[in-house]
Amino acid sequence: NHITWSVDDAKKGGFEHYMLKEIYEQPQVFYNTIKALEKDSRLSMLRIPSEITVAACGTSYHASMAFRYLVQEYTTKRLSVELASEFKYYTPPVRDMVIGVTQSGETADTLAAIEAAKARNCPTLAVTNVLGSSITRSADWTVFMCAGPEISVAATKSFTAQLAVFMGMVNVMADGRFTEPLAHAHRSIERVLSTDLEAAVGLLGSATGMFYVGRGVFYPVALEGALKMKEISYIHAEGYAAGELKHGPFALLSTETPVVAICIPGQTYGVMLSNIKEMKARGAPIIGIGVEGDTEVESVVDVFVTVPEDHPMVQAVTVSVVLQLLAYHTANALCRDIDKPRNLAKSVTVE
Ligand code: G6P
Repeated sequence: NHITWSVDDAKKGGFEHYMLKEIYEQPQVFYNTIKALEKDSRLSMLRIPSEITVAACGTSYHASMAFRYLVQEYTTKRLSVELASEFKYYTPPVRDMVIGVTQSGETADTLAAIEAAKARNCPTLAVTNVLGSSITRSADWTVFMCAGPEISVAATKSFTAQLAVFMGMVNVMADGRFTEPLAHAHRSIERVLSTDLEAAVGLLGSATGMFYVGRGVFYPVALEGALKMKEISYIHAEGYAAGELKHGPFALLSTETPVVAICIPGQTYGVMLSNIKEMKARGAPIIGIGVEGDTEVESVVDVFVTVPEDHPMVQAVTVSVVLQLLAYHTANALCRDIDKPRNLAKSVTVE
């Protein structure tokens, strides 16, 4: 008798990789983060000023971009987002508050942005996943994402937890208008975990280059989808705002460049549908992400992948989860080192 599994395997709880385990934790993570925010009376006390600047890197930057679209659409406040690594090269207008968003709480550039804000007497807020991390000691206030430890280098559940924090903050700013959809979001997230992506992975086949496109809040969702794909599969994936494709990348479209297009009912639907037709006319194979039962999108794309109908805010989360799974299954089919992609570190503590 001997033990055939390692401690590491045990920690993966039966999943082949930490990344997949962490993807599957997301219904609970979203729920926990929303509940924790509701209980945290400091959030409603925290006077969120009308001008906010957010600084972040990588996946945290994409979540912050999504925050900007939500604030713009649902509140009267103004929010701008900067790459933390660029914060130092220009002087952002002095806003009333600077928010540093970092899963690890240790990213050097994000810490530097908070210090720069303090030097200019701006109040600062940290959004982080790690209790006692450097950023919590530097910022005036901290809001915790309740994602739990994230082991896989590619961020998944921390992105969802950041979205939950931002949606919770938007809900406070909008006087509780979104309490109901946010309280039920975990059910939709749960449902997309079993999405069948075999045909989509098959369509990517031997692609060496691909695009992700979306509009509105689905633009940062597309950027994040592309980041996941390049990080763990090493396929060159570019995220674009769908309207920008005509300004250059169209030259690259061919039968060899699959496109993942996010086409969800709402403000961006009609124009996304015509963008999809234009890309299709250039021969690009299209994976369309839409809502269940949307035969119009289904009829113009090569592979149709669905998310449940829900509040548009929640669909930003469910589409993100589907794109994480697409990256995961593609990388797995290519036998990549999913939890530890080459050349990447979980937290970047140098400039
Ligand atoms: C590294 C990680 C990314 C992460 C980024 C920002 O590049 O590999 O997954 O998004 O750092 O990390 P942070 O801890 O500041 O969110």
